[in-house]
Amino acid sequence: MAPNSTVSSDTPDRQWWKEAVAYQIYPRSFNDSNGDGIGDIRGITEKVDYLDSLGIDVVWLCPVYQSPQADNGYDISDYRSIDEQFGTMADWEALLEALHAHDMRLLMDLVVNHTSDEHEWFQRSRRGDDAYKDYYYWRDGGEDEHGNPTPPNNWGSFMGGSAWTYDELREQWYLHLYDEKQPDLNWRNPDVRDEIASLVEWWLEKGIDGFRLDAIHVISKPEGLPNGTTDKKPIGSEEFSHGPRVHDYLRELYDRTFANYDVVTVGEMGETTVDIASEYLGEEGDGLDMLFHFEHMDIDVGPRGRWDPEGGGEWSLPEFKRIMSRWQTQLEGWNAQYLGNHDQPRIVSRFGNDGTYRGESAKLLATFLLTTHGTPFVYQGEEIGMTNAEFESLDELDDPMMIGAVEDYLAAGKADSPEELREFWNTQSRDHARTPMQWSDDEHAGFTDGKPWFPVNENYRDINVEAARDDEGSVWHHYRELINFRHDEDALVYGEYSLLLPDHEQVYAYTRVLGDDRLLIVLNWSEDPATIDLGRTEVDFDFTDLSVCLSNYEETATESDELLFRPYEAAIYRY
Ligand code: NOJ
Ligand code: CA
Repeated sequence: MAPNSTVSSDTPDRQWWKEAVAYQIYPRSFNDSNGDGIGDIRGITEKVDYLDSLGIDVVWLCPVYQSPQADNGYDISDYRSIDEQFGTMADWEALLEALHAHDMRLLMDLVVNHTSDEHEWFQRSRRGDDAYKDYYYWRDGGEDEHGNPTPPNNWGSFMGGSAWTYDELREQWYLHLYDEKQPDLNWRNPDVRDEIASLVEWWLEKGIDGFRLDAIHVISKPEGLPNGTTDKKPIGSEEFSHGPRVHDYLRELYDRTFANYDVVTVGEMGETTVDIASEYLGEEGDGLDMLFHFEHMDIDVGPRGRWDPEGGGEWSLPEFKRIMSRWQTQLEGWNAQYLGNHDQPRIVSRFGNDGTYRGESAKLLATFLLTTHGTPFVYQGEEIGMTNAEFESLDELDDPMMIGAVEDYLAAGKADSPEELREFWNTQSRDHARTPMQWSDDEHAGFTDGKPWFPVNENYRDINVEAARDDEGSVWHHYRELINFRHDEDALVYGEYSLLLPDHEQVYAYTRVLGDDRLLIVLNWSEDPATIDLGRTEVDFDFTDLSVCLSNYEETATESDELLFRPYEAAIYRY
């Protein structure tokens, strides 16, 4: 703790995971150690020192379990083994040991809404094996007026098309909210819940420090699987999100497993408002520690959601402030803060400016992420300001969600060729986040000695870790300073958040206060200069004595009656 920061008696409940800064790794694209073009576990272990030098406390590792890789590992065929593409269990154990030796913790990804169709449970289930026949959602379908078979209901898949696939062997349809190779587990079946509790326990016993819970808001489906009634994509999401027994299932899992360990859990939850979140996280909740909501991710998508090409693209700062401030001040529970991840575009391209002000805006986004309430999650590459890529044709994409969305749109006769949707995928595709990590200006950005599974972004000669570490003024150094600063300032972790100037179109300004420790954060979230009159804020604070703690420009203004901020200027003051 910094000498001048005091912990007042109203300091909330201290927890290691509240004070931590987390870093998300998408293993395929992080670092390849053996030249086969695919990032792997040994490659991560090679970079543990790197993560440590950045100041990271927790790593969230996306799935490395055995998987046919239909959705890059989110389709698991054996929960208790490591996919050979990524290495061996011994490699994984060595990674855990290396992280722990550096005082870092490891969160694994828990993907239990669905398995792979190649999982033994599904193979037995489709054969009608007694013990497994109800492990998944199997239903009979219907017929249309021409006698063609139709699925049991109208639900759509997140990957496009119907959420049902007919299985010739079982002669029934099975439900898959994601790819047809990701059948949904039937949580109503107590045997399924036993299996899940047992695999969770198995990993906790191996000494991990927690889990990120994939798609956890859709595990409980309503009785009768009623048709969806809105045109939001995928159809049916209002039926299968936050289903009737989701809290019972989570509480049961918590009581049986997590409650007995000092671990953290972070749920991934689409369709979640602050009120809904409070039911999971609050006193009366399910024992879940944090969740990733999507309200800010939905800010620039169209009315029918992210996978609909129509109507998206724009967002406004006042709206962004309203959303974030609601979470900052009204959530009953602890926030998980993020701006990007492996499913989202690159943050500097989406919320900043990846041209003239790439450096300044990447630093501004980092300042926001690391000075608000909630555990910050940095996604790999953000710390060097990696940008979206350019994909010329659909063939260049890998992401089944984006490809599915484009195919749906073409099938509906709304476009004549995929190329008409180039702008859609160049803003929204998940592939932007999945181009390999840019380590150096060597061939393939130093990610691999072989041929990368997915091409590196062309800008790697300018944007890479080596160059960033050599340059004191880089985005990377700014992240590092911000992380150090957060570690020293309890006010940034536990302090109260108050928004100033809510309607200002260019500026996001707020305070974080804990006892006598008072920090003011001012972000000019625009490419034009901005004047900020702190005297006109609703909050009755005395800002006359401002001192700059950290800024992304030289000579940041301190005259509080009218701060003049340059494009994407971002500063933290003490007052
Ligand atoms: C959310 C994951 O983050 C995403 O990558 C995956 O496709 C779906 N859940 C399905 O597991
Ligand atoms: Ca490899």
